[in-house]
Amino acid sequence: MAKILQNAWLAACLGAITCNVLAVERSAEKNYLLRCVGCHGQDGAGAPNQGIPAFPGLLDPLYSNDLGRTYLTHVPGVRASSLSANEIAAVLNHVAQRWAKAPHELERFTAEEVQVRQKVEVPDIVALRRHLTGYFRARGIELAPYPWP
Ligand code: HEC
Repeated sequence: MAKILQNAWLAACLGAITCNVLAVERSAEKNYLLRCVGCHGQDGAGAPNQGIPAFPGLLDPLYSNDLGRTYLTHVPGVRASSLSANEIAAVLNHVAQRWAKAPHELERFTAEEVQVRQKVEVPDIVALRRHLTGYFRARGIELAPYPWP
């Protein structure tokens, strides 16, 4: 009897886990539409005059740089999204795929990388972006225009 109950519980539990995963994990495209499009737009143009940087052709340096990749996992819309690490990796890869100049040359994010990078303390995201702007500018590379230098 105990054995039957245990098996029934296991089956129900496994069923629930599968259902949760199916319910929670959405495609990157859908997550972009639900969680990102309000600020960044369908075309990734953002709203530079309101502090939301444009994506097209401007993302490659951030995706190719160690600190840049940490920055990407901490941008406010990503942090506040309540997406899983797996979904964040997928939506960041989706953004690169659509708007980077050379998406095939960029390393793809994995859930593990997102988890590790999100553990890094980033007390001031604007200061980090400002630092990255300066770092790239000194090398003749411009990131998306930003309202504060
Ligand atoms: C409430 C508005 C808002 C939402 C929603 C939002 N973002 Fe952002 N995003 C911003 C702002 C503002 C910045 C600039 C951050 C800063 O201060 O450095 C930014 C920066 C970025 C950048 C870096 C661009 C650069 O040049 O610095 C990426 C990539 C990005 N967001 C992706 C996303 C993704 C993916 C989502 C959805 C999961 C998302 N954002 C949702 C406002 C938003």
